[in-house]
This record gives sequence, C-alpha cells and structure tokens, in this order.
Amino acid sequence: MFKTYDTLEQTIHAQPRVTALLACQENLMPASWHMPISKSPFRYAVAVREENYTHQLIQEHKSFTLNFLPFEHFETVNLMGKLHGDMDDKLAQSNLDVENVDRFKNVLLSASDFIYECVVCDTYKNGDHTVFIADVVTIHVNEKQSDKPMLFSGRGRYATLGDTFTAYKRV
Ligand SMILES: Cc1cc2nc3c(=O)[nH]c(=O)nc-3n(C[C@H](O)[C@H](O)[C@H](O)COP(=O)(O)O)c2cc1C
Repeated sequence: MFKTYDTLEQTIHAQPRVTALLACQENLMPASWHMPISKSPFRYAVAVREENYTHQLIQEHKSFTLNFLPFEHFETVNLMGKLHGDMDDKLAQSNLDVENVDRFKNVLLSASDFIYECVVCDTYKNGDHTVFIADVVTIHVNEKQSDKPMLFSGRGRYATLGDTFTAYKRV
C-alpha cells in the first residue's frame, strides 16, 4: 500500500543524500542537492535556492568549494543551514578550521574527507533553484578519510553508512 501525494512538502520519506558544506569565499552553506554530471572533464551540478546568500555569492565569484565532512559534524552542518551569510559570520560560528583557500579565496575546510574545487561553467535556472554546473578543477582527499559520510534525509534527519559491500565484478 502506498500513500500518494502531489507535492514534496506534503510527504515524509527518507531519501538520504550525501551532504557537503559549499563554501563561496568564507560563507558556508550545507548542500545536499548536488550530483556529478560528467566524468571527463569532471563536472558537478549543485542546485542553490535563489533566496540564499550563496546564490548571490556564486553569481559574483563563479567558483566555490564542496567540503565533504564526515558524519560527526552533522550538528555544525545543521546550524549552518539555519543561518544566512549576509547576516552572520557562519565560518566563525562553525568553529571549523580552515586548511587553505583556493585561487578564488574560497575556503578549504580541514575536517573534510575530500574537497572539490569548482569553477562555474554553466548556469541553469529552473523552478525555485538555480543549477550551477562547475568544472571540478582540483580534488583534495584527506589521508585520514573516514568511512562515515554525512547523509541527510531532510527535516533535520542525518545518518551514515552501516554495512558496505563490494559487488562481484565480471571480467
Ligand atoms: C543538510 C542541509 C542540506 C541543504 N541543502 C541545500 C541545497 O542543496 N541547496 C540549497 O539551496 N539549500 C540547501 N539547504 C538550505 C541552506 O543551506 C540554508 O538555506 C542556508 O541557511 C543558506 O545559507 P546562505 O544564505 O548563507 O547561503 C540545506 C540545508 C541543510 C541543513
């Protein structure tokens, strides 16, 4: 039996999505609506709501970093999703350490499992989000990468991986 709905807002259903902190300059925005869209060149798409300050920042700077933090930082990520960078110094409130900045001055967060440096190459406006398509120009992988990615299912629900399996590879 299924319950059937017409809009996303009406439903409660878990669709766990890997979540990153998108940094444009020093502003941090949790992002779970994102996906890889091309392997070579490696391109990535992120959907950003127009009313978010990050939208304005990306339009201005045409670049950002995606910082994939392990699960243990979910409270910080959740807090970053309640603040807006035009009113709050979110980096200061996050208490996260900055490892470095990229050539556009977007921060790289030390706690990340891996980081993508992104340069916007296309923009696609549809519905209430804008999809920023970016070339991933540099990938940083933490030597101490955890096996606990942060997954977000909406409405304050976070999870991480349980058992993992490697599928049989046919030759
Ligand atoms: C876990 C999580 C994931 C989110 N994913 C997105 C997303 O993919 N795109 C988006 O526009 N907003 C997303 N949001 C909402 C923004 O992070 C939130 O509106 C934030 O306060 C915007 O900050 P800013 O105004 O400084 O850009 C998410 C929030 C949370 C908590």
